[in-house]
Amino acid sequence: MKKIIIFSLIIAIVFCKTKLLDTQYPYPSQNLITFKLDDSFKTNATLNQIGKLQMQISLYSTESYFTAPDCVNCQIYGAKNSKPFVCNKEEYCTEYFSTEGAIDQYFKARGSVIDMNLELDSIEFYLSTGFYVKWISQLQLNQTYQYQGLGLALTRACQGTFLRSLYNQAKIDNYSYSLYYDVDSYKLILGGYNQSLLAQEFYNLKSVSIMRNIPYRIVDDLVLASLYINQQVLLKDAQVLLDPTVDGIILPAKCSSDIQNILQTQRKLPDISQFTPQQPGIWSSLKTAPSFQIQFYLDDPDAISQYLQVNFDAQTLNAKNQKGQFTPRITFSDIVDQNNQFYNVIRVGKIIFQQMVYYKYIQDGGQSTATEFRALAPMIKL
Ligand SMILES: *[C@@H]1O[C@H](CO)[C@@H](O)[C@H](O)[C@H]1NC(C)=O
Ligand SMILES: *[C@@H]1O[C@H](CO)[C@@H](O)[C@H](O)[C@H]1NC(C)=O
Ligand SMILES: *[C@@H]1O[C@H](CO)[C@@H](O)[C@H](O)[C@H]1NC(C)=O
Ligand SMILES: *[C@@H]1O[C@H](CO)[C@@H](O)[C@H](O)[C@H]1NC(C)=O
Repeated sequence: MKKIIIFSLIIAIVFCKTKLLDTQYPYPSQNLITFKLDDSFKTNATLNQIGKLQMQISLYSTESYFTAPDCVNCQIYGAKNSKPFVCNKEEYCTEYFSTEGAIDQYFKARGSVIDMNLELDSIEFYLSTGFYVKWISQLQLNQTYQYQGLGLALTRACQGTFLRSLYNQAKIDNYSYSLYYDVDSYKLILGGYNQSLLAQEFYNLKSVSIMRNIPYRIVDDLVLASLYINQQVLLKDAQVLLDPTVDGIILPAKCSSDIQNILQTQRKLPDISQFTPQQPGIWSSLKTAPSFQIQFYLDDPDAISQYLQVNFDAQTLNAKNQKGQFTPRITFSDIVDQNNQFYNVIRVGKIIFQQMVYYKYIQDGGQSTATEFRALAPMIKL
């Protein structure tokens, strides 16, 4: 039943959205903030008292939060070496009224609203409307609580408090960000993008959901695509999340037998083992190792094609082990949302940001006429 509902939702969206979007991208603002993040999308931060630490950046949370020393339940779910934060007036941290809500997709919290200074990747910021967490409770099982987090969720109805404070302080001119992976780290650019990195213009991705409300939900950022393995259809109308915390590709568990069937008909089963969800194969040569293709649906009347085809050739898709064999960077896992419902969601990570620049952008025009864009452009070879 759930599948049918999702399927008819997609059909409805595809057929109702006949109004063409204006997808001309203005020249990017020069008022940009660039920072560097590691492979798990963490940046080096400096906080009063705590000193240097790594801070998790999330594209899918609206809150930027810090954890008080006497937080209830935080120790239970936090990593063992997590350090709390003391909000001190002398160090320009001001505490206001109490508040409550979800801090990310995994935990809800109670605490208070704070204004404070922080330093990220040696750039100083003033954060207004941070969340000072004093009590948490889990929304999903088996998740680790990060003591400090920075949320960059962005839709026309809802902007993360960090982006909002940068915009209000005129540190950025536009509600937008772009990101790509360069050699050994992510580059996240707030307020726009770097045009000299693009080999082609942006392609506007077709979004799954059209009704967006506060609070932000991850479904707001799903885009539609078809997936292929070795040029054979694996999934049509799949919902894809571009997630920089992922390395390769995470597919729903049910895809593993479909992949096995495709490889079997192409007589390309792994050399020494069966293809299983836990062990997606070992190939002795790249000539026989699988490739992967994602065909993103576009919402772009000017585009030369209806689709943006991104190809992950065998060399890109497969990781080499110490014995010189190859294994696809594919894992299988069902994704659960806040209501513990399974989404038929594909997550694609670093593998895509190594060849494409992702750009998320809210076009000005007030709340009622604002439009959201999620776009990809092929990157020049750096
Ligand atoms: C950024 O905002 C300015 C001022 O609102 C606007 O004129 C400009 O077109 C915007 N640029 C982009 C790239 O959205
Ligand atoms: C954070 O700092 C450490 C130690 O100085 C450094 O090795 C690492 O590359 C830095 N991370 C980022 C994302 O810049
Ligand atoms: C959570 O962890 C427990 C013990 O490690 C495990 O039995 C359970 O299946 C996990 N639950 C989920 C939803 O992953
Ligand atoms: C944009 O990218 C180019 C090419 O890597 C680089 O030389 C330039 O410094 C970048 N500009 C900004 C503002 O980061």
